[in-house]
Amino acid sequence: MNDILLKEEILKSTSFELNPGQLFVLKTVNSTNLYAKKLINSANSHFTAVVSDSQTNGRGRMGRDFFSPEGTGIYMSIILDCKKINLPKNLLTIATGVAICRVLKNCCKADAEVKWVNDIYIKGKKVCGILAETLSEYVIMGIGINISTSVFPGKLNEIAGSVFPKNIARNEIIARVINELHIIYMEDNAQKLIDEYKSYSLVLGKKISFTHNGKAFTGIATDINTDGNLIVKTCENEMLVLNSGEVSLGSENFSR
Ligand code: BTN
Repeated sequence: MNDILLKEEILKSTSFELNPGQLFVLKTVNSTNLYAKKLINSANSHFTAVVSDSQTNGRGRMGRDFFSPEGTGIYMSIILDCKKINLPKNLLTIATGVAICRVLKNCCKADAEVKWVNDIYIKGKKVCGILAETLSEYVIMGIGINISTSVFPGKLNEIAGSVFPKNIARNEIIARVINELHIIYMEDNAQKLIDEYKSYSLVLGKKISFTHNGKAFTGIATDINTDGNLIVKTCENEMLVLNSGEVSLGSENFSR
């Protein structure tokens, strides 16, 4: 299948009037988030999307790199002007995770699950990460999806995987993600959003480990509240409300 990223192909499959000036399709870039940051404040920067075939300095959370080889992934960033959307800032990552799960399930027929707060898994392997960066009233929502990457560097091979969709090109998947994001950021029912997010959850009811205020904990992930916080019952029967950070499945502190 021809899988070259093409702006016209992406625009053809968007279900709303996306101004062509609001879509940047690049061959390579250091990071689509960094590129998008420079576009903030230019006219119509809200919902401007930057997509690249590869990244030389793809960035993940906690200062990590995001492996971004050419031709096999989707690396994209969307600029959001928080004054122009209905959802509050603290639910934007959750909303993005829901939108991507919808696309992976409906278009790629993949059994996508979300590990609070922003990693998407298929069959136990991380296939997508989300990096939200805030600049005053703007949020740059960075999304990295491994579509057909088969070899990852070093230890990443044990953790990361790809979607390997059948008969659907990256242009189409990108358009579907943009379409879902366009709908979901206008959602005004936070509970409905959280209920859908919970239905994709990989951690609810499971044993997890994490660090909170500098201390290591294990516990059971029991719920996600309307602010998108993870509620955990620790092994010492204490209830904790996590609003950021990273959790690991199981009792070992491995990152997955
Ligand atoms: C993570 O898993 O920690 C988040 C990864 C986010 C990667 C995406 S790829 C597009 C955008 N540009 C970046 O440099 N990072 C995000």
